[in-house]
Amino acid sequence: MAASILSADFACLGAQSAEALAVGADLLHVDVMDGHFVPNLSMGPAVCAAVRRACPDAFLDVHLMVTDPARFIEPFAKAGANSVTFHVEAVADPAALAARARGLGLGVGLASNPETRVERHEPFLRAFDLHLVMSVHPGFSGQAFIDATLRKTEWLRNRLGAEARVQMDGGVGPETARVCARAGADVLVSASALFGAKDLRAAAAAIHRAASLG
Ligand code: DX5
Ligand code: ZN
Repeated sequence: MAASILSADFACLGAQSAEALAVGADLLHVDVMDGHFVPNLSMGPAVCAAVRRACPDAFLDVHLMVTDPARFIEPFAKAGANSVTFHVEAVADPAALAARARGLGLGVGLASNPETRVERHEPFLRAFDLHLVMSVHPGFSGQAFIDATLRKTEWLRNRLGAEARVQMDGGVGPETARVCARAGADVLVSASALFGAKDLRAAAAAIHRAASLG
C-alpha cells in the first residue's frame, strides 16, 4: 500500500508522511503535477527533498503527471526519489527515458490514463519495473474509482512476470482494494481514503485487509 501524500496536510507533511508509514503504508507516493498535462499544480523536487529528510528510510515513488518528464527525472533523483513513473501519453520513447532514469539509480514505472488503451504498454512490458493503471482521471484526489480500468490491470497482470508490479491509483480505499487485488494489482495507491479518514491506522488496516482478501 502506497500512501499518496497529495491528501496529507501540507502544513505538517513530514509528520503526516511518517505517521502513514508508522500505521502500515509500505511506501510514499509523490504526485507531481505541472498544470499542463493535468489541470492542477502540486509539488516539485523541493517538497520531495523535504519528505526525504523527514522520512530517511521511506521508499519514495514519484508519479510524474507532467508533459515533459525528461526535464524532471534528474531533479527528483537528487531530491531522494527511489522510483519515477511517467505517462505513456507524454513520452515519445518511453524505453529510452526509462534507461536514463535507471542510469540515475531509479526504479521506473509507466502509467496510462483511464481512457488510454492498455495495449500502449505492450512494447514496454519488460522495460519497466512497474505499470501504473490510473483508476481516476489524473489531477485530483477524492474522485470515484472507474471500474472499467480493472480490465487493464488484468491484461497487464496476465502478460507480466511475477517480478513486475501493477499499481492502481485513484479512488482506492477499503471498498475498492479487493477488486484491485483480485484483478492482479499489487501496489495500491491511496490518498483521500487514508489522509481523509478519521482514524488513519484503521483506514490503513482496512485497505490491507480488503486487498489480502483479493
Ligand atoms: C491523482 C493522483 C493520485 C491521487 C489519488 O491524480 O495520481 O495518486 O492522489 O487520490 P485518491 O486516493 O483520493 O483517489
Ligand atoms: Zn498518483
